[in-house]
Amino acid sequence: MFELMDKAPADPIMGITELYNTDTNPNKINLSMGVFKDEQGNTPLLSCVKKAEAKIYATEDTKAYSAIEGFSSFNDAVLPLIFGADHEAVTSGRSATIHTPGGSGALRIVGDFLTKLSPSNTIWVSDPTWVNHINIFETAGLQVKRYPYFDKTTNGLAFDTMMSALKDIPAGDTVLFHGCCHNPTGVDPSNDQWQQISDLVHGNGLMPVLDFAYQGFAEGIREDGEGPLKLVQPGKETLICGSFSKNFALYNERTGSLTAVAADAAAVNIATSQIKSVIRAIYSSPPAHGGIIVSTILNDPELRTQWESELKQMRERIQNMRQLLAETLTAKGVPGDHSFITRQRGMFSFSGLNPTQVEQLKNDHSIYIVGNGRINVAAITPDNCDALCEAIANVS
Ligand SMILES: Cc1ncc(COP(=O)(O)O)c(C=O)c1O
Repeated sequence: MFELMDKAPADPIMGITELYNTDTNPNKINLSMGVFKDEQGNTPLLSCVKKAEAKIYATEDTKAYSAIEGFSSFNDAVLPLIFGADHEAVTSGRSATIHTPGGSGALRIVGDFLTKLSPSNTIWVSDPTWVNHINIFETAGLQVKRYPYFDKTTNGLAFDTMMSALKDIPAGDTVLFHGCCHNPTGVDPSNDQWQQISDLVHGNGLMPVLDFAYQGFAEGIREDGEGPLKLVQPGKETLICGSFSKNFALYNERTGSLTAVAADAAAVNIATSQIKSVIRAIYSSPPAHGGIIVSTILNDPELRTQWESELKQMRERIQNMRQLLAETLTAKGVPGDHSFITRQRGMFSFSGLNPTQVEQLKNDHSIYIVGNGRINVAAITPDNCDALCEAIANVS
């Protein structure tokens, strides 16, 4: 049977790293994967994680299954982390968080949950969006449609065009928004724009899903929620996918969360029971280790303070690299105003490089970038920035 199948195409992002790994040029640069790197080009294991693991190994005495929804020590700590402990969605009891295998796992559960239970099988995603969104939702059986998001002329948000497209979406359809640090553009709505989006979404009976994979990577844990959490209105439903891959650097531990916000506590119980029935049929219960690390850190005041400071260091390094990239591009004479790079937030910048330039950078300079021109700013270092900008000047 296998030999009769066609080979599956390489993943558009992971496939680039596979190519990068085979490149023998010692000066090669990989700006494709969404992974944070330190100044030495390594993806660090956070010290708070190392300490939490030591604590866990000293006390852990069983590998018995966790519940379908994961451990309550994780779920009860993550819910107030997302919202702030005094948020109405927390104090009212109308929200519940469960532990998922990464943010991707949370998105897939949402896909299956909607396919099974939503009266509409359509989800709208921003154009552009993280390519795996389309893959995940289509595989779950949803019809994926796009709303405009990015304005190429300003390298900013196409707010008016987006709002008029959102107005035309039929009631009952689901709309996916990126919480912050939009992937791939790095462009987020302002807090005021989020309010307008929220009013339109709930006013028109749309179902919002928030993909909050980069909480803490723009300005801070609380600050990053200010705008997108306006989607959480009293008595209204929202689904929130979280990820600890980036903000705890727990990439390979596959640690994420899914939070259901319902009209009231009784409704969230129903939603959670259905989510659990979806999970049972896919992977039964989540991998425990990453969840225990996160809950150990969040429930220990000293470790939590350390985590917040390590998160701040990651955030500030990215902001510094944005500044350096914009300045070096200008210094190398690359045409255009590069100040937009410092206004975009999070790991990614939509560089404006076209597919031909991306190809030239790979073939002539061993620089690997996603075909749509998305650059992972968090993989730029003071050592490789000069060579990168020289190469971009070469292909511009
Ligand atoms: C927008 C977005 N959502 C979700 C994810 C999934 O993250 P995880 O690695 O936790 O599955 C990513 C990862 O790159 C992402 O960029």
